[in-house]
Amino acid sequence: MARASNTQSTEPTVLDSLVELRAAVASARQGGGKVALVPTMGALHAGHLELVRAARSQAACVVVSIFVNPAQFGPNEDFATYPRTWEADLAALAKLGTDAIWAPSVATMYPDGFDTRIAPGGPALAGLEDKFRPHFFGGVCTAVAKLLLQVQPDFATFGEKDYQQLQVVTAMARDLDLPVKILGVPTVRERDGLALSSRNAYLSAEERMVAPTLYRALQACATRLKDGGPIASILAEGHQAIERAGFSVDYFEARHAETLKPIGSLSGKPVRLLVAAKIGRTRLIDNVGV
Ligand code: PAJ
Repeated sequence: MARASNTQSTEPTVLDSLVELRAAVASARQGGGKVALVPTMGALHAGHLELVRAARSQAACVVVSIFVNPAQFGPNEDFATYPRTWEADLAALAKLGTDAIWAPSVATMYPDGFDTRIAPGGPALAGLEDKFRPHFFGGVCTAVAKLLLQVQPDFATFGEKDYQQLQVVTAMARDLDLPVKILGVPTVRERDGLALSSRNAYLSAEERMVAPTLYRALQACATRLKDGGPIASILAEGHQAIERAGFSVDYFEARHAETLKPIGSLSGKPVRLLVAAKIGRTRLIDNVGV
């Protein structure tokens, strides 16, 4: 599997057994370069591919995992219907010079008798996604911890698109002394500002037209906050603008950019604006820095 150069359009090695994965990574390590992991659930779009590019630019060996993780879906969520686009994913990854695709089955990740679950705190209990999807970060951390221990990369890339997830995984790696660097990659957007997401495929044509309101409201609020306006009323107006466009808002909040704790003022802190809102049956999330 080891490939020192950036050879284009080579079929990645597809691996579904842990023994093979470990052997492949060990052989790649003999070249001395860095190993990167890009965890995904497949249905790859340009946002995921940017994570692969970021990994490629710093690693001799890039492993992309594709695993639709049942542990992070709630009983009424879209696990069964989550888009699965294996052939297209493979072709896109081949073009980027991916070395290996780690595609474990559910039975490999969670064999009979599997009985351990990571219970993240801190940013995982910030009252954002966790409030609406209480099962979510425990499921994400359990899968991501396993993927990191399976591949044992030098670094792993995660998108800022899922900002709370990025902070939760960063905190988990720190707290558990996992020997891996977590690298955040900026959100890739459509031309009209809508953050790329596998779930955008669920939007009707009409909903798709309204969807960029989320990013516009985030940007407008970030600008006003930078200009020193009052936080509470700026957030309330942003919230209203999104509801007026036809969304039902789960949260629209300004938080400390690392701990995700609520903030009373802006003075000197890194701040992130985060939103989650439903349009029709589709729930979208987005965020920007202030
Ligand atoms: P998934 O939704 O497939 O996303 C995989 C990675 O792609 C995540 O790090 C996510 O933040 C990033 N990503 C998605 N859309 C992006 C965009 N528009 N710009 C930049 N990056 C983007 O997130 C998951 O899978 C799962 O929770 C996972 C971490 C794989 C654990 O199961």
